[in-house]
Amino acid sequence: MLKGTRIVVGISGGIAAYKSADLVSRLRKKSALIKVVMTKRAEEFITPLTFSSLSGNEVATDMFSCPKEREIQHISLAHWAEYIIIAPATANFIGKVASGIADDLLTTTVMASKAGVVIVPAMNTNMYNNPIVQRNIEDLSRHGYLFFGPAEGNLACGDKGTGRMEEPEAIVEYMEGLAGVKGDLENRTVLVTAGPTREALDPVRFLSNASSGRMGYSIAGTAARRGARVILISGPTNLEPPPSVEFVPVVSALDMYNEVMRRFPECDVAIKTAAVSDYRPASVSQHKIKKTGDGMSLALVRNPDILSELGKIKGGRILVGFAAESTNLLEYAREKINKKNLDLIVANDITRKGTGFDSDANEGYILDSAGATEELPRMSKMQMADIILDKVVSLLGKDSG
Ligand code: CTP
Repeated sequence: MLKGTRIVVGISGGIAAYKSADLVSRLRKKSALIKVVMTKRAEEFITPLTFSSLSGNEVATDMFSCPKEREIQHISLAHWAEYIIIAPATANFIGKVASGIADDLLTTTVMASKAGVVIVPAMNTNMYNNPIVQRNIEDLSRHGYLFFGPAEGNLACGDKGTGRMEEPEAIVEYMEGLAGVKGDLENRTVLVTAGPTREALDPVRFLSNASSGRMGYSIAGTAARRGARVILISGPTNLEPPPSVEFVPVVSALDMYNEVMRRFPECDVAIKTAAVSDYRPASVSQHKIKKTGDGMSLALVRNPDILSELGKIKGGRILVGFAAESTNLLEYAREKINKKNLDLIVANDITRKGTGFDSDANEGYILDSAGATEELPRMSKMQMADIILDKVVSLLGKDSG
C-alpha cells in the first residue's frame, strides 16, 4: 500500500489530463495523501473542482495565492512531497524543467523539491521523437528524474505510435514499486551509517572528506518506508534526517565506532555508507595551533575499521559495505568483501564526474559474497537505495528459509 505516502500530482495541459482523475482516485484508494497542482493549460481540459473532490484537498493552480499566512505555496508543496508525479507531462513542461525555467506553480514546485519526481509523458509521436524532446528527457534522466512511459497506441490527434500516457493502473503499480511499499523489511532493524567523520586537530580544525551523506540518508529513508525500524548513525552533514528514523549524530570515527558497537546487537542488517577517516591526529591540541616554520607535519594514528570489527561479530546479520575507489575498482571491492566478511559491497569509482561523493546520482557495481557482480548504471541515489535493499531482502529471505 501507498499508505500515508505524500504525493503531489502535477497536471500539465494535455488531452490525457482526464485520465489523471482516475489516477488520483486510484492513489487515494491506496491511502496515499494527495495534493494536486494544475497548470493554467490543464484547466482548459479539466476543472480543479474534479481534482479537489477526488484528492480531498484544495487544488493549487496559482503561484501567488498563499493558503496559509506566511506560507510560500511552491516551497511548502515541495517540502511536503515525498513523490511528485507529473501526469500528463507535455513536451512544454519537460522542456521547461530541462532548461531550468520555473515560471508557474508546477515547474517551481518540481524544481524546489528534493522529492522523487516521476514524469509521465503524453504527446504526439513526432513530438515525442523530436530530438530536442529526446535530449531534454535524457538530460532530466541524468539528473535523477524518472520517466514512466509513454505507451504505444492510438493518439488523440488521430496518429498511431508512441506517445500515449501510461494507464493510471500502471502508474499506481509503478509508484508502489518505487516507494518500496512492499513492507518487506517489516519487523527488521536496519542500522545505517552515513556522512563523513571529523577528526579534530585543535578546537577549530579537523580532517574530513567530501561525503555528503546522501547515499546513506536515501537508504535509511527507503528502508523505513519499506517497513524497517531504522537507526541512522551519521557524521556531520547538511541533510535533514528522513522522517521516522532513530537519528544518532556523531562527529569522529571513534564516536561512530562506539555508537555502532552499542547498537549493532539490536539489528538484523548493517549498511555502512559512511566515509570514515582511516586516521586521526595522534593528539588534539587544546588550543588553536599557531603557525611556526615553513612547513609542518602531522602525526596520525589509525582509527578502528568499524566494518571489519562488525565482520568479526556479525553472526547471522547481513553486512553491507561501500568501497570508494579511484583504481582497480572491482578487484579492491572483491578484496574488501572477503577481508571484512561482508555479504554485499557497493563499489563506486570516485573519479567519475557527477556521481558518488557529493552528488544526487550514483553508479557502480554491487558484488555479493558468492562471487556475483552486477552493474548499477547511473541512477538517483534513491533508486539505488531500493536496489541495494532488494538484495538485502533476498539475503534475509535465504537466511530465514
Ligand atoms: N569503513 C569503516 N571504518 C573505517 C574505514 C572504513 O567502517 N575506519 C567502512 C566504510 O564505511 C565502507 C568501507 O569500510 O563501508 C570501505 O571503506 P574504504 O575507505 O573505501 O576502504 P578501506 O577499508 O578504508 O580501505 P582503503 O583505505 O585501503 O581503501
